[in-house]
Amino acid sequence: MAGRRIRLEPNGTVFEAAESEAVLNAALRQGVPLRYGCRHGNCSSCKYLVSDGDVDLGNASPYSLSEREREEGWALLCCARALSDLVIQVPEDPTDRLRPVLRPADFAATVAANDRVTRALHRLRLRLDRPLAFYPGQFLEVEVPGRPGEWRSYSIASSPSRSAEVDLVILKVPGGAFSASLERLGGGAALRVRGPYGTSYLREGDRPILLVGGGSGIAPLLSILEFAAEAGDRRAITFFYGARTAADLPLQEEIAELQRRLPHLRYRPALSEPTADCRWAGAVGLIAQVIQRELADASPFDAYVCGPPPMCDTVSLILAAKGLPDGRAFLDRFYSAVESPGSSEPRARSFG
Ligand SMILES: Cc1cc2nc3c(=O)[nH]c(=O)nc-3n(C[C@H](O)[C@H](O)[C@H](O)COP(=O)(O)OP(=O)(O)OC[C@H]3O[C@@H](n4cnc5c(N)ncnc54)[C@H](O)[C@@H]3O)c2cc1C
Ligand code: FES
Repeated sequence: MAGRRIRLEPNGTVFEAAESEAVLNAALRQGVPLRYGCRHGNCSSCKYLVSDGDVDLGNASPYSLSEREREEGWALLCCARALSDLVIQVPEDPTDRLRPVLRPADFAATVAANDRVTRALHRLRLRLDRPLAFYPGQFLEVEVPGRPGEWRSYSIASSPSRSAEVDLVILKVPGGAFSASLERLGGGAALRVRGPYGTSYLREGDRPILLVGGGSGIAPLLSILEFAAEAGDRRAITFFYGARTAADLPLQEEIAELQRRLPHLRYRPALSEPTADCRWAGAVGLIAQVIQRELADASPFDAYVCGPPPMCDTVSLILAAKGLPDGRAFLDRFYSAVESPGSSEPRARSFG
């Protein structure tokens, strides 16, 4: 596809972008690794300085790209379109430890199973028309049934070894477009899927692993755990997971089985609103409070923090204060793709 010439400095990588596509999409299509997260202009992970050329900044949220940053030449590459040839500053960051890009593609999927795993969470098993290569911790986008061109992001909850069948764990959001179709997605229902996406996947190395999740944020962590169990990963893993009540803890049998297969796994679930019915003797509080209380030193870890953006941001601040070095927190913030009615922070909320 002929298009604008995009040059990354200082490493000199060159690729082409059509005027109709986001610069990030063009990079991924051509296997060029860049940092990014939500792909919807909310998380700021794809913010880079455009030092030469003209861009259309697209749908970047004003909270993720300030007026001043716009004037200085910064852009969110998931939203930005090239109006001319561009030079973009991409300083090398050895802490990123990015792996080669797995180029996203479109897939036809059918629902193989749709199970309610708590009162608010569903596990959706999708059979794909061909195998999907992905890294544990990556996500897919699924087109909302009956709404062509509207896509929602869902982290893959299964291991890459089951490449033609993927599990998703989805929170039913009242009034949500995809959520509304969730109950109706019976066996054999057809869906359009694309991916894989995301850079918060499991990094290689020998540091202990810290997993932190809340609500449907368990999804990418399950993929990481399953992959680690299959690979016989010997790294120590500490897994903090937050839910409201004991009935909101999903997939406890699967996690118990993972504990048997991963002798170095310490699972620490916490309840924020335990009731008498919970008969709960475990940790109590928001997951950020539990980490604040229980984790003395974050400095040895690679940390993966997944779920609602406010939780991820609070936990990452706590981990930094407890010594986690820059570049060792991989945040998977479940931003909503659409604006909350009446919200003063467009698309900056999610409760997943
Ligand atoms: C990288 C990434 C990974 C994600 N992974 C997952 C995942 O594994 N599992 C998962 O369940 N979600 C995940 N999400 C969130 C998901 O993409 C959707 O935003 C969410 O499912 C809501 O979609 P919907 O179509 O049902 O609601 P929408 O139609 O998008 O939203 C309807 C209304 O609800 C508001 N809203 C959106 N989300 C919530 C919420 N959680 N609670 C209350 N109100 C809300 C919106 O602002 C809007 O006003 C992920 C998001 C990102 C960016
Ligand atoms: S990936 Fe661009 S703002 Fe999130």
